[in-house]
Amino acid sequence: VRTIRTVAELRAALAAHRGLRIGLVPTMGAFHDGHLALMRRARADTDVVVVSLFVNPSQFNERADLDRYPHDEARDGALAADLGVDYLFAPAVTEVYPDGFATTVTVDARLTGVLEGAQRGRTHFDAVTTVVSKLFNMVGPDIAYFGQKDAQQALVIRRMVQDLNLAIGIVVVPTVRDHDGLAMSSRNMLLSGTERQRATALHRALRLARHAIDAGERDPNPIKARVYAELTGSGVEPQYFELVEPDTLVPVQRINGEVLAVVAARVGATRLIDNETLSPSDRPSSQEQIECVTRC
Ligand code: PAF
Repeated sequence: VRTIRTVAELRAALAAHRGLRIGLVPTMGAFHDGHLALMRRARADTDVVVVSLFVNPSQFNERADLDRYPHDEARDGALAADLGVDYLFAPAVTEVYPDGFATTVTVDARLTGVLEGAQRGRTHFDAVTTVVSKLFNMVGPDIAYFGQKDAQQALVIRRMVQDLNLAIGIVVVPTVRDHDGLAMSSRNMLLSGTERQRATALHRALRLARHAIDAGERDPNPIKARVYAELTGSGVEPQYFELVEPDTLVPVQRINGEVLAVVAARVGATRLIDNETLSPSDRPSSQEQIECVTRC
């Protein structure tokens, strides 16, 4: 893998590959199995794989979260090399935001002012869509890869690509989970031993919602009440749990079709999110049945 620091160098390197399919995996580093799944998928789909590694300061609403965000570029580089990534694009903040930078790409507040946008502030998604637009223009990918764990981010980016007629395919890769169901996140490495245990409550909350829907519950309110009780009872501080329309993020009044269950909670000083698409007709997968035989 070749590490590149500047846009000029990136453009020069990629000029040699025009005509081939270029895949982009935008990341903020601190790679975990979720990132590796995106890179594997890009490697399988495309000819030239670019992974960007840029901790975008403007999308952090809390200075402490930015300061604590894990960094290990040497380890990230080795993992990317193992997976056959061609280029690791790791620019400095001044390369991405030179003096005088004054442009923002904004997606409507109906998608960006709710859930994560309500908790973290509107500027969070503005910062994401702005940096992702810039990365798209720097790399010129045919396909870009995002994780389903950040479901709202993926939806906002799809909306932006559609609305701005960007000729880029967006692939959203399923969430990768640890053995006990905890969704992979770079922030997991900030959890203490007991926090790591408590963090499994987010996945349990989603499972509880799924079981309630499987058992015939169609009113979101009792499900929300039980989920909040599960979260607080497990020693995590819920920020939201909602059952929303997957394409609009509007909370559903009744569960008639597919819904997106989204959860955010604080575990100590660390904020975690998770989600799952649920459907009233879904039968538990065989994996889930095995889990229930051993744990429920
Ligand atoms: O999901 C992330 O890691 C970031 O939000 C992204 C897409 C790399 C933009 O900074």
